[in-house]
Amino acid sequence: MAAMLQGRRILLVIAGGIAAYKCLDLLRRLRERGATTRCILTKGGAQFVTPLSVATLSRDKVYQDLFSLTDESEIGHIRLARECDLVVVAPATADLLAKMAHGLADDLASTVLLATDRPILVAPAMNFVMWESNATQENLTALRQRGVHVVGPDAGELAEGESGVGRMSEPLAIVGAIESLFASGPLKGKRALVTSGPTYEPVDPVRFIGNRSSGKQGHAIATALALLGADTTLVTGPTRLADPRGVTVTHIESADEMLAACRAALPVDIAVCAAAVADWKPRDRRNQKIKKNGSLPALELVENPDILATLSAKGSSRPSLVIGFAAETENVVSNATAKRHKKGCDWIVANDVSAAAGTFGGDANTVHLIDEGGTETWPRLPKDDVARRLAQRIADRFTRS
Ligand code: C5P
Repeated sequence: MAAMLQGRRILLVIAGGIAAYKCLDLLRRLRERGATTRCILTKGGAQFVTPLSVATLSRDKVYQDLFSLTDESEIGHIRLARECDLVVVAPATADLLAKMAHGLADDLASTVLLATDRPILVAPAMNFVMWESNATQENLTALRQRGVHVVGPDAGELAEGESGVGRMSEPLAIVGAIESLFASGPLKGKRALVTSGPTYEPVDPVRFIGNRSSGKQGHAIATALALLGADTTLVTGPTRLADPRGVTVTHIESADEMLAACRAALPVDIAVCAAAVADWKPRDRRNQKIKKNGSLPALELVENPDILATLSAKGSSRPSLVIGFAAETENVVSNATAKRHKKGCDWIVANDVSAAAGTFGGDANTVHLIDEGGTETWPRLPKDDVARRLAQRIADRFTRS
């Protein structure tokens, strides 16, 4: 057996579901490949597998109780959370996923999951109705956006005799997902910069001019590039999104700050400008709140720096691949093709943001990728999939050259 996971320290969290029995096999498979394993068994998990079988197969004691004095004196929950290379949650129940999504920490498993700074892989397992529920799907979306990796669930017969999507992935599939997380991605050694979100241009201490942007697409691209191994910096305006895992995040507000943060991140190999930068800013930022005194205040606007065009300009620090976005409401491809030339970037990802397309704030996107060779139209895809596909295209471009 090739020791693909030699020396990798895996913390396995076993939650309460019938699929917990598969974890015993998973432990064996991980050890066969050279991994060291340590397990947390939740109260529910212990209803399905015994601490003795888990301890025997993991060759370590089993951690079960947040408030166990012995455990805390031997190894506290913070050390448990950090002394590993990867945390695997299998089976990940709807309940534990909900706790993770909301930051609850009322037992050892959820506390360690909140406290860990290591990558996390979850293998969900539940009844298909629970899997398809909006609550579970929204929790999964939030976790994915934070960079949590997900394997499965699969379709098939479920414990209750029903069938549907909800079966935990088989141990070997989980092993495969773990191995690919440890494999060095095709963008290893490359540096990437992504801009995301809107910019806010201050008018006075309480008011600003801003663009509409959820940041979902830009954040997903940063996550996808990091997953392929790129050393990724995300420069983002104000959004409601959590910082993605495995990415260096700089928070800014205005376009000037965004440009400064991008410059500070150079040199990079790849720049993806997905931010909705405000085109104009007030010429003078007032230090006092402008009073309502009957007459409308005149707001003199000046243009903001164009970050995409600045990064695309020829020079020694130009990234070898610069990608811009074009949000268009009509003539999407022709306007975006013109924009590619105007901005001097290599590729443009064009999307239709007319009200009918439902792109703003939504989870799906229909895009066209415009490069030197022409236009490729992608099917309507979740923004996460657009991000993964774009990251893969970027990786292909670097492995070709
Ligand atoms: O000019 P327009 O805003 O339509 O161009 C969109 C593209 O340019 C996006 O990639 C956006 O991130 C980028 N952009 C920028 N700085 C600006 C304006 C737009 O980087 N000031």
